[in-house]
Amino acid sequence: MKRLALALAAMVTLALAGPALADPIVIKFSHVVTPDAPKGKAALLFKQLAEKYTDGKVSVEVYPNSSLYKDKEELEALQLGSVQLLAPSISKFGPLGVKEFDVFDLPFLMTDDAHARQMMASPMMGDLNKKLEDKGVEPLAYWDNGAHVYTANVPLIMPDDFKGLKMRIQGSKVLDAVARQLGAIPQIIAFGELYQALQTGVADGEDNVPSNISTQKLYDVQKYLTVSHHGRLTYSLITNKKFWDSLPADVRPGLDRAVKESTAFFNDTAAKDNETAMETIKATGKMEIHVQTEAEKQAWIAALMPVHKEMQSRFGKDFIERIYKASGFVPPQI
Ligand code: LMR
Repeated sequence: MKRLALALAAMVTLALAGPALADPIVIKFSHVVTPDAPKGKAALLFKQLAEKYTDGKVSVEVYPNSSLYKDKEELEALQLGSVQLLAPSISKFGPLGVKEFDVFDLPFLMTDDAHARQMMASPMMGDLNKKLEDKGVEPLAYWDNGAHVYTANVPLIMPDDFKGLKMRIQGSKVLDAVARQLGAIPQIIAFGELYQALQTGVADGEDNVPSNISTQKLYDVQKYLTVSHHGRLTYSLITNKKFWDSLPADVRPGLDRAVKESTAFFNDTAAKDNETAMETIKATGKMEIHVQTEAEKQAWIAALMPVHKEMQSRFGKDFIERIYKASGFVPPQI
């Protein structure tokens, strides 16, 4: 009797619950920065919007701080389909077998937000996107995180100050050439290992945007910061093409809308966060901050323009000139 009552109760519960909901599609979004860096915040917003606009048909799991994968591993994982969304720096695309994105690291190519936005909106990006698609990677958006400054354990005022320093770089071949041109020793180190590398002297310095320097607390392990704005940190929000193309028709529009709105949020946030980060860094009193003078900038440009020339053999002169045109860069007469 008791068993019958229990079975009836279970049937009533099931009936009230209605038809069983299908399991949501899980999107794993892995990244290497903190949740309060611009990319971290945009990832969390994407999760919120994607789940809302798909009525829960999609569930987004965000893994910050390299907790799922580090720089190079995350790209391999995306191609294998083990993770569905990343927003890596485009200076790390070499391992995908697409070398062209390194060109954006040419020193002083895009010094301000307007030129960076002009470049990312240019039709040239269509050609580059195609190269990623050929590798099974679909670029959904570009997120420009601002201009780089240098940090080190010695002051970096003139190009000669780099001589003999071990400088951490992202993977790009252009960044490798920049470090060598300055007489430094480039070290490719994953972002998740950067703090420790600087703390233990594996690297003497690095370049990054202020919001990363602040959220990673690099001021605890680096004494000097030079506002040089010699390069930019641009992300591409990328997914596995096969996965994205296979999404049901009632899910894609919601995700496209979430991409669009998180991109707008990122573009609104990055510059403000870099300004706040500079204030935070100053307030720690732990770093000596040097803003490059015009004369120093000219000396850096003169020292680094040979990298543009050297890279002609890697990318082709025509390609570099198309990039100059698309970004509005006018090579200085030196
Ligand atoms: C770096 O490796 O320095 C940056 O690309 C990290 C990031 O994703 O902002």
